[in-house]
Amino acid sequence: MENMSQNEKKRILSGIQPSGDLTLGSYLGAIRNWAALADEYDCYYMLADMHTITVRQVPADLRRHTITQLATYIASGLDPEKNVLFVQSHVPAHAQLGWVLDCYTMFGELSRMTQFKDKSAKNADNINAGLFTYPALMAADILLYQADLVPVGGDQKQHVEICRDIANRFNGIYGEVFKIPEPYIPPVGARIMSLTSPENKMSKSDKDQNGCIYMLERPEDIMRKFKKAVTDSDACVRYDPAGKPGVSNLMQIYSVATGRDFDAIQREFDGQGYGAFKTAVGEAVVELLRPIREETERLLAEKAYLESVYRAGAEKAGHVAGKTLNKVYKKIGFLAR
Ligand code: TYM
Repeated sequence: MENMSQNEKKRILSGIQPSGDLTLGSYLGAIRNWAALADEYDCYYMLADMHTITVRQVPADLRRHTITQLATYIASGLDPEKNVLFVQSHVPAHAQLGWVLDCYTMFGELSRMTQFKDKSAKNADNINAGLFTYPALMAADILLYQADLVPVGGDQKQHVEICRDIANRFNGIYGEVFKIPEPYIPPVGARIMSLTSPENKMSKSDKDQNGCIYMLERPEDIMRKFKKAVTDSDACVRYDPAGKPGVSNLMQIYSVATGRDFDAIQREFDGQGYGAFKTAVGEAVVELLRPIREETERLLAEKAYLESVYRAGAEKAGHVAGKTLNKVYKKIGFLAR
């Protein structure tokens, strides 16, 4: 019976690249929603280390970011007993299906990917083939698990859409091999902007450290960054993303952190200057992140536990992924070993 209900649950897959310290953007756009879905879905959450090497990484930093990100996943409420937490490179089927899907993904469609255009502009001296075919590997990540739902921030929507196109193309040739996944983009928090240039997304690769809040940052640094956040000269807390991008971004952050809607926030700060508002947003974020930072630090001291989590995760993920890969190999005509 237990097994039956397990099988009837819909499945989720998502992942984050351990290419740096996790940001408030990743938390509000993705991780926060993952923890909320654990009871309802059969969840697979990955550390996308293979994706990170499309941009040059320092090996020791990559290892440290990977283990820290795993601890942060757990500290953010992803119970390893209920969610499969694993490292992408520990499950070889990702690379294997990634290659197959490269051969079912078109040059033209990859050329249209916004992230490729952005990243190749930022890394002009290293526009490698992996950066270009990145979405095919991401499609493999998702399709290996026959995921129903992919919870991501708004910037990854295009990648989930190309994944659907690739899956439909493949199914069109070979029959119903892959489940077609849906993106899940949160209504508020899907696109958190930089605090210093609110027309740009908050990003861990941003050169301006003051624009980005990191999940494990010290409270005093978080407060300092919020107090310096760019607003406007209008001194009125009102939601208007086009006209007041800085204030609207802070309102989004405050709304997700406190559960209050925009009308309530507007009333709360009516007649007050931006100073009080920015301090309140900073304090709400400090309190939101405090337990996660403390628990992450505690978990990082438990190396053996973290190892046991990612080993068990790779085992479970490998089992599911292996089944899909076998099916694909058979369909395309690879001789069984
Ligand atoms: P990555 O590592 O860039 O981002 C991690 C997640 O956080 C979301 N996010 C944001 N949401 C709101 N506001 C922001 N400023 C913000 N910044 C980041 C992202 O949308 C993402 O959900 N390609 C993926 C990793 C990946 C993946 C996958 C995701 C690899 N394989 C399979 C889902 C399924 C990426 O680069 O995310």
